[in-house]
Amino acid sequence: MSSEVILEAIDVIKHFPTGARGLLQRTTGTVKAVDGVSLQIYTGQTLGIVGESGCGKSTLARVLMRLLEPSAGSVKLQGEDITHIHGQHLRKVRSQMQMVFQDPIASLNPRHSVGEIISTPLKFLEGHHAGSDKARVQELMNLVGLNPEHYNRYPHEFSGGQRQRIGIARAIAVNPKIIVADEPVSALDVSIQAQILNLLEKLQADFGLSYVFIAHDLSVVRHIADQVAVMYLGKIVEIGSPEDVYGITAHPYTKALMSAVPVANPRIAANRHRIVLTGDVPSPVNPPSGCRFRTRCPKAQELCAQDEPLLLDRGHGHPVACHFPD
Ligand SMILES: Nc1ncnc2c1ncn2[C@@H]1O[C@H](COP(=O)(O)OP(=O)(O)OP(=O)(O)O)[C@@H](O)[C@H]1O
Ligand code: SF4
Ligand SMILES: [Mg+2]
Repeated sequence: MSSEVILEAIDVIKHFPTGARGLLQRTTGTVKAVDGVSLQIYTGQTLGIVGESGCGKSTLARVLMRLLEPSAGSVKLQGEDITHIHGQHLRKVRSQMQMVFQDPIASLNPRHSVGEIISTPLKFLEGHHAGSDKARVQELMNLVGLNPEHYNRYPHEFSGGQRQRIGIARAIAVNPKIIVADEPVSALDVSIQAQILNLLEKLQADFGLSYVFIAHDLSVVRHIADQVAVMYLGKIVEIGSPEDVYGITAHPYTKALMSAVPVANPRIAANRHRIVLTGDVPSPVNPPSGCRFRTRCPKAQELCAQDEPLLLDRGHGHPVACHFPD
């Protein structure tokens, strides 16, 4: 693994006040969307973040990109503390990180041609010359597997997969160092998903890009990630290489997510102990005491309600936040 850390979160917390309406109304609660997350993203590598809806993946991504300021903790980009920077400095830092979204239809302006969409970020570059935009856009379209002659077409004239390629071209237009892809393939057919994953891998190899790749499903990040972080209710419960997380799965929540992933080999499938997750994720306004997973955990014991398990290596070679790991 490359040892150069490009982006780092240290004890990051992001809480949102709820019920605050108007100046005189008091805050009635706090959504603990991200509640003490530390992680490192290495140059040229991919960190996959996986977890059910509402566990704080997008909020964490937005804090990492400094689209949101954390409530506590810090974010470092190449060793520089960017937690509380503002204005011009923040704009400059942000240009090194770009986002790819889940729904390419919602994230592309339908009234703008592909050429206009992809060239928009170029206008903010230092020494920008409008005259060179078309050539650059067509080069980018070529890079992401779109026909450069379709420069003047509009988003609705493309398929879902092609629209995601437009979003990716826009993201790489300003030569960012990091791309945060928030469920970039969740809205696409399985066959198209593989094509987009391949494209992202190719761009990573060609340009040394670092990725944060968010998904609901463990199987999606398996082949693209160098590290996989499993999140539950605002916290990382298990993190490690795919070999560790998929091979020496230790946390009951990761096990449950794993058993939802289809297995091609019938022998492995037959021997697999399935854990079915029941009930919804509890509210992040009032998370359970101790271990947040205890209300749904088949292994929960008394200690789990009293003591919060820390994210530690408990003999598996990678950190796990559970008192009774497998
Ligand atoms: N601006 C906000 N104000 C208040 N609560 C918020 C805000 N943004 C997110 N939340 C809440 O924080 C929690 C985490 O949300 P987040 O969008 O980060 O989850 P997620 O893991 O990305 O979910 P999904 O898989 O559905 O995209 C949710 O309970 C959400 O309602
Ligand atoms: S600490 Fe307890 S409740 Fe939490 S995951 Fe481990 S066994 Fe389950
Ligand atoms: Mg999300």
